[in-house]
Amino acid sequence: MPDCNVEWIKACTESDVEEGRFAEFRLPRDTSVPDAIPRSGFVFLENGTLRAYLNQCPHLGIELNWMPGRFMDSDNLFIQCSTHGALFKPTTGECIAGPCQGDALVALDLRLDHGDVLIRVPAWKAPE
Ligand code: FES
Repeated sequence: MPDCNVEWIKACTESDVEEGRFAEFRLPRDTSVPDAIPRSGFVFLENGTLRAYLNQCPHLGIELNWMPGRFMDSDNLFIQCSTHGALFKPTTGECIAGPCQGDALVALDLRLDHGDVLIRVPAWKAPE
């Protein structure tokens, strides 16, 4: 039985995501937190597995990409922050190089529902 206190939103459809193509989405604003900044996330397919992360660099709490849908480094091996170049493993979100090395992207729970990719909205947490 689904948890009624957990909010799931549609991030995209399954057909929006394919190897090498990222789908971005906006998360609803948490009105219970006055200073909550708007948040977004992204979904992608990596070796046949759908993954989703909050689009928020652990270093400064800002979005990773500077262009829509562009998250990977030039070698297409790691997710890269466009501000200071931190590199993250696509499989785990772990930062392996850069100012937030050892930290990680926030992974988002996802599930499929009749061709839609649903994301569980994470609790708002201020960037450290
Ligand atoms: S803001 Fe991402 S590495 Fe600095």
